[in-house]
Amino acid sequence: MNDSATLWWDRAKDCLCYIEQTLLPGEYVIIECRSIDRLATAIRRLEVRGAPALGVAGAYGITLATRTFPHEDVDTFMAGVRQAAEQLRSTRPTAINLGWGINRVLAALATAHSVDEARAIALREADAIAREDTACCHAIGNNGAALLPGRCTVLTHCNAGALACSSWGTALGVIRSAVMAGKEVKVISCETRPLLQGARLTAWELARDGIDVTVITDSMAAHFMRAGAIDVVIVGADRITRDAVFNKIGTYMHAVCARHHGIPFYVAAPLSTFDPDNTERDVLIEERGREEVTVMGNRTYVPDGAKVKNPAFDATPMDLVTAIITEKGVLHQPIDTRSYLSFRTSH
Ligand code: MRU
Repeated sequence: MNDSATLWWDRAKDCLCYIEQTLLPGEYVIIECRSIDRLATAIRRLEVRGAPALGVAGAYGITLATRTFPHEDVDTFMAGVRQAAEQLRSTRPTAINLGWGINRVLAALATAHSVDEARAIALREADAIAREDTACCHAIGNNGAALLPGRCTVLTHCNAGALACSSWGTALGVIRSAVMAGKEVKVISCETRPLLQGARLTAWELARDGIDVTVITDSMAAHFMRAGAIDVVIVGADRITRDAVFNKIGTYMHAVCARHHGIPFYVAAPLSTFDPDNTERDVLIEERGREEVTVMGNRTYVPDGAKVKNPAFDATPMDLVTAIITEKGVLHQPIDTRSYLSFRTSH
């Protein structure tokens, strides 16, 4: 089973490297990223994407900033780093992990007395975040695998796999761990319009690992649930507030259909995705460009006179979630804020 990294720091080249995800599955290209502007563009274009991977990208982004600014006095240097942090933070507002990774490295930098020390601390902290993310994914995988029957078909949406994390994945981590444990798991991957993360990325990852995967269009999910072809739904999350799970647009539709058909709906996510101080209405849903909906390949499918909406995420109310699978264990219903908080502080 492939457990290679999606993004990492290349010490010899002193730069951030990542798999360019907009080119998959056709081309496998590694980008060497050396500037904050380039990283901000990469995050906006979804070259690097998925909540936990964005946390790691944010952390390495601050590391990059510590390399970019000149060797001045530490206060001027830190002002530049904080400015870079705000630039990166503003790229994608919904996934909480981006800001979480940035903040964690900034907090570690508070102890730096010199620019050299700051550079070393930033890299150490970002590497720790990347390592911890992989460990979280394996723990989520093992905790979630125990919930799956010995033989089942899992529907997933978007890509909550190795490509969305440091490696292994959250929702796909559960599937990988279940397969490793000898369970017979088949996957139905919803294509995930408009950017096709399910068709391009989830199918690529699973096929590469020899896991049985079938791609359907998003609008086929209810049909297959009604036909009894789906036993379990597992998705990732971009942010989990007190009352809702934010994930790729279309997730809510699957949760409603799963409830209607009596199918368990699991969310797999690390505690770094939790936002227990906020509720659904506090969260800004990223609205993306018109052309993502109107253009496919070289062709425009929507007339100029028509308006378009393109929210990147939706919110699934907590009562539709069967359980949340985290690295520390599984939160079953009733899932409430206090259990999130005590879970986070007591482990
Ligand atoms: O817009 P994207 O591709 O970054 O959206 C990604 C998702 O919605 C994932 O499901 C989520 O980040 C969880 S990844 C483990």
